[in-house]
Amino acid sequence: MSATRATAVKRISISDLQAMRDKGQPITMVTAYDYPSARIIDQAGLPIILVGDSLGMVMLGYDSTIPVTVDDMIHHGKAVVRGAKRAHVVVDMPFGSYQTGWQDAMRNATRIMQETGAGSVKLEGGVRVAETVHRLTEAGIPVMGHIGLTPQSVNQFGGFKLQGKTPREAVAVIADARALEEAGAYAVVLETVPTALAHMITQRVKIPTIGIGAGPFCSGQVQVFHDMLGLYEDFKPKHARRFVQGAQVLRDGLIAYREAVEAKEFPAAAESFYMDERALALIEKMAPPPEETVEDFTEATEVLEDALASLRSATREPAGDSAGA
Ligand code: KIV
Repeated sequence: MSATRATAVKRISISDLQAMRDKGQPITMVTAYDYPSARIIDQAGLPIILVGDSLGMVMLGYDSTIPVTVDDMIHHGKAVVRGAKRAHVVVDMPFGSYQTGWQDAMRNATRIMQETGAGSVKLEGGVRVAETVHRLTEAGIPVMGHIGLTPQSVNQFGGFKLQGKTPREAVAVIADARALEEAGAYAVVLETVPTALAHMITQRVKIPTIGIGAGPFCSGQVQVFHDMLGLYEDFKPKHARRFVQGAQVLRDGLIAYREAVEAKEFPAAAESFYMDERALALIEKMAPPPEETVEDFTEATEVLEDALASLRSATREPAGDSAGA
């Protein structure tokens, strides 16, 4: 076995997630849409990252998830998979990529899995997508379900509203959860449903339930990155908690940067690059201020040769002046 293989981090699988649920170990999931945030989430030890189609709202500025395309999901999914070495990465199937039948779902899910390297896909709906979930899982594509408030149906719901609050609605949500489990989904997101309903579902299915606005009795929780890090100050969904005032932290950093530039204190010597003194003298001779002219190039050529020799030997030594990545 190669050294690389021996030290490779094992990625969390859907069986690991099931084992967590069976042991009563709460599962933490958060959204990510790019490489640096995926890296940070991985380093923080979260077991699942969702490349949510919420990226349409929080990253692309749309007012719903409806305009998001399969290409958008693949573009962001690839970056997240590159950033996360350990977390299980699940990518949302966007609006229109599976509602038109299981064949379209199969083609789009296959693209998402192949092109991003993600471990599973997520799609919205219960009973009505059960056949699609069954076909995908039979084909070896793990599927996470998503029921309750399903944002791709916002126009059908008439807004982002609590779901399952009447007995009839609640029974339908329970039927959705059961249909997904039977169809082979490995987990199900419960969004914006009463705590008691989420609790009942969690007791009635054997797969992990991941709640968002569904109370504390689910097998796990999911939050949108920007909400839980306080990156949006204008709006906070009721179900979200700001674990850090991210916007304020970023603003403070940006103000400090602006002030350092204005005070001519940034960049300092340690943040700057230097050149050989003789090369500098030569450049000054070769490119004089406009009012001066170069008359004799003999001396300049000698200086140039000396400067190049000394530059060559300097680059062979670790001068600590690397631009760094
Ligand atoms: O797209 C998303 O962020 C989601 C979560 C709200 C679960 O689906």
